[in-house]
Formats: sequence, structure tokens, C-alpha cells
Amino acid sequence: MVETFEQISPADFFYRNRDIAGFTNPTRAIFSSVRELVENALDASDLHGVPPEVYLRISQEDNGGEEGEVYILRVEDNGSGIPARHIPSAFGQVLFGSKYKLRQARGTFGLGGTMAILYGQITTHKPVYVASSTGTSRTYEYKLMIDIQRNRPIILDRKAHVNKTRWHGTVVEFRLEGDYFRAMPKILEYLKQTAVVTPYANITFVDPKGRLYRFNRVTTDMPPPPEETFPHPYGVDVETIQRLTKITDCRNMLDFMQKHFQRVSERIAHGFLENAGIGKKKNPKKLKPQEVVRLVRKMKEFKDFLPPRARCLSPLGKDLLKAGILKELKPDFIAVCRRKPSAYSGHPFIVETAIAYGGDIPKAGDIVVHRFANRIPLLYDEASDVTVRVIKSINWRTYKVSPDMPIAILVHLCSTKVPYKTVGKEFIADRPEVRREILNGIREVARRLRRFLTRKEHVERERRRLSVFSKYLPKIAEFSTELAGKKQPPDIEKLLKSVRRFE
Ligand SMILES: Nc1ncnc2c1ncn2[C@@H]1O[C@H](COP(=O)(O)OP(=O)(O)OP(=O)(O)O)[C@@H](O)[C@H]1O
Ligand SMILES: [Mg+2]
Repeated sequence: MVETFEQISPADFFYRNRDIAGFTNPTRAIFSSVRELVENALDASDLHGVPPEVYLRISQEDNGGEEGEVYILRVEDNGSGIPARHIPSAFGQVLFGSKYKLRQARGTFGLGGTMAILYGQITTHKPVYVASSTGTSRTYEYKLMIDIQRNRPIILDRKAHVNKTRWHGTVVEFRLEGDYFRAMPKILEYLKQTAVVTPYANITFVDPKGRLYRFNRVTTDMPPPPEETFPHPYGVDVETIQRLTKITDCRNMLDFMQKHFQRVSERIAHGFLENAGIGKKKNPKKLKPQEVVRLVRKMKEFKDFLPPRARCLSPLGKDLLKAGILKELKPDFIAVCRRKPSAYSGHPFIVETAIAYGGDIPKAGDIVVHRFANRIPLLYDEASDVTVRVIKSINWRTYKVSPDMPIAILVHLCSTKVPYKTVGKEFIADRPEVRREILNGIREVARRLRRFLTRKEHVERERRRLSVFSKYLPKIAEFSTELAGKKQPPDIEKLLKSVRRFE
């Protein structure tokens, strides 16, 4: 038999392998769709610098008794909007996006939202409806489907309207087969945790039964937006250099090093090129293949590059993290920590950690762990995640923590390249540098929890002691008055006051 060969498009690839993008079954599919669309909505408002207003509605469609339940998913935001010419590709083409930049964002792959729409299409064969405006005088509406085999959008309808109010934002609505009621706990948990790391957002959710869930903002302060940056020399490879040499207008290596990489000053560029044995005057466009390979190797070995700059990151900051936790978990005690910027393989990252005790935190029989990456809550594959492994490796008795306590730990990793293990963004790989920062961050907040627990223990001991005194002292006074043959018992208030040190 003769083998036949064929090529498939990226959309076709993800259609065949939807599990790797988090669309395994109807339960996961509806959860992932909500997540991807809410993520896009929040990214768009963060980018626009306006506190997000996200409206999410899931309603059930009567599918005439056919098997499988069909839901209509609608997400509205007040974000940047999408320029009309990009709308079809943004929603009808896999691996198309505006976030392939060295700047922190929730989205990275150019896949999530489109994948949700693709899943909707293959389960219901209905188009997606998109309305968007960037705040100009026009609003655009589209009805789209995806040509999966060619990875192209099919425009079924397009309308332009006058935008009197200069509204900016996006509305996406599509149908998909799903199992909402099984996915419900995860969807609610996802929204709650999103509210923790986005305390400046208003999120409204109407579920298929018409129930309303509101997550209200407690602040309008937003973390400073991240800046776009250049690659760090430790994070590049041969392909990156080759692409840069094609687009550069630098005529010599000394300029090339300074212009296209972050944290390379003239002095460092001199030192590096000398060390690498590459001519400072050499034209980067004339680098031979073996010279490019040597350049990359030497870049990784050179010790004097400064660590990557963290301005491309946008951590939440202590105050916002605290506000988010207080708002959703209402704990009795909270400690937060923001670690200094660090880097793995040339990618900058910042870890933020928090520990909370009491309030609405359940006594789950173990520590409750909330994991976040670039302000996205990660809810699946917990056991494989680096944070969970780090927490398991800690001897919690040294921090006076026992499993029956209501304790929650939150770890937020911000990076231009979160080391996700899958495109479904479920868990973070175990990189030694990341692990170390997470461990140190957790230790720092755990030490503060220990101080709180020690004080609490002390207060409780005193209270017990006091209740013994106040129970028996009046009786002792009464008996001793009788024994002494006196009528007036002594004043015990003074004595009680002196032992009430901790009240
Ligand atoms: N609500 C929205 N507002 C503005 N732009 C949007 C919105 N939703 C999607 N987009 C645009 O569509 C592009 C594709 O979205 P999609 O979710 O498929 O990928 P992504 O967000 O770039 O990456 P990821 O796969 O990690 O989600 C985005 O990069 C963005 O430019
Ligand atoms: Mg996305």
C-alpha cells in the first residue's frame, strides 16, 4: 500500500487535538470557554487602562429534544475593542493575536478565545456573533464561522453602526454544547478567584437559571500597565538572532547589541563582544551561521549581563492583593509578600504570595491553595503544579500550622513567559528559579502567620486562666468570709483586674 501525505492547518490541528487546549468534554469545554472569554475581556480593559466591567451570561437553548445540551455564552466588556479589519481573524483564525509581545498579559498563544468558538462551531454548527468598537464613530457587528481546514474566518454578515456614545469594548456571543451544571462549581470558583486577583473589576454573571452573581470592585486603582521590552541576551536562540539581523538597521555589532537587547549598555556590549571574539565593527547582516551559533552560546555564558528588567511585568502589588483577599475571603489574619524581580532563562518574573487565616476560608482538612499566573486563576491539575509541590515540601509544624486550620495560601506568578506545561494554561512547570522564589515567598508569609498563631495561642491560654479565676474566686471569697466569721466579703474586683492582662 502507498502511504498518502497531507498537510493540515493549525485550526485543523487543534480541532483534532482539542484536549491539549482544555476542551476535553462538555464540562471542561464550557468551563474553558468562560475562562478564555473572561480572560480576553479583562486583558482588553487592562490594556485600555479602564477598570473592567465584565458581563457574562450563560443561557440554555431549547434544542428540540436533541441529545446534548446547548448553551448560549455571551461576554461583554468595556475594553479596548478590536479594529474592524482584525475582528474576523481575531475570532476566526487560530494562532492570530495581538499578544505575541514581550509584555505581561493573560493571553499568550493566540488560541484560547478562538478555540472556544471553534468548539462551539463543531458542536452546534452555528456562527459566532461579535460586536466591537475602539471608541471611534463606528461600531461593527460580525457573524463569523471558521473554515477549519484552511484556518480562515468566513464572514457571513457584517454591519457598521453609528457610535454616538463612543462606546468602546467587545461583545462575543456563541452557542456550544456543554454540561453547565457539572461545570458550575468550577465556573463560580473561577470567577471568585478572578475577583481576588482583580479587585478593581466589576464582574456580573447570570447563570442559566437566571441567578445573578456580582463580584464588585473595591478599588479603582489598577496596577501600572506593563511596558513592552526587548529580549534579554540570556533568553535568545539562533532563530531570534537571525530574525533580528534581517530587520536591523544597525551597521555594526556594537550598536546591534545595545539596540535589540535589554540591559546592554555600551560598556557591557564592548566587554561581551571582546569576550565572544566577535568584531565590534562587524556588520550584523554579514554574520555567518557558525558565528550566530557562537554568539548565542557566548551570550548564555557571559556573566556580566544585568538581570532582565521587570518593567514588562505588572504584578498586583501588596495593597491590591490584600484588598482582593479581604473582599472575597474575609480572613481574620492576612500577610502578603512581593518578591524582587528574578529571571529564568532570560525571562523576567515576579512572585507574589499571601497567606490568610480564618473568615470564610473553609477548614478543608488541608491548606487551601489558590494559584495564579498573570492574574489568571489556575484550577486544574493542581498536583502537578510547582506551587503545590513547594507547599508539600514545607514542614508546616514549624509554623504552628495544623491541617485542621482554616488557612489559604495564594501564589501569583507574573512573567512575560509563564512556564505553562500546556496551552490550556493549567499548571506551571517546576523551574528551579521559580520554585526558589515561590518557596521564599511562602516562607516569608508563613513566618508572619506563625507570629499571629503564637499570639492567638497565648491569648487563648490567658482567657482560659481568667475564666478559672473568675469562676472560683467569688466562691473562695465567700467561704473565707464565712470561715473568718466576717460578714462583708473582700473586694475581689481588684484581684480579677490584675489577672486580666490580656483582655
Ligand atoms: N474582548 C476582547 N477585546 C479586545 N481584543 C480581543 C478580545 N477578545 C479577543 N481579542 C483579540 O483577539 C486575539 C485572539 O484572542 P485569543 O483568545 O484567541 O488569543 P490570545 O488571547 O492572544 O492568547 P491565548 O490563547 O493565550 O488566549 C487577542 O490577541 C486579541 O487581540
Ligand atoms: Mg485569550
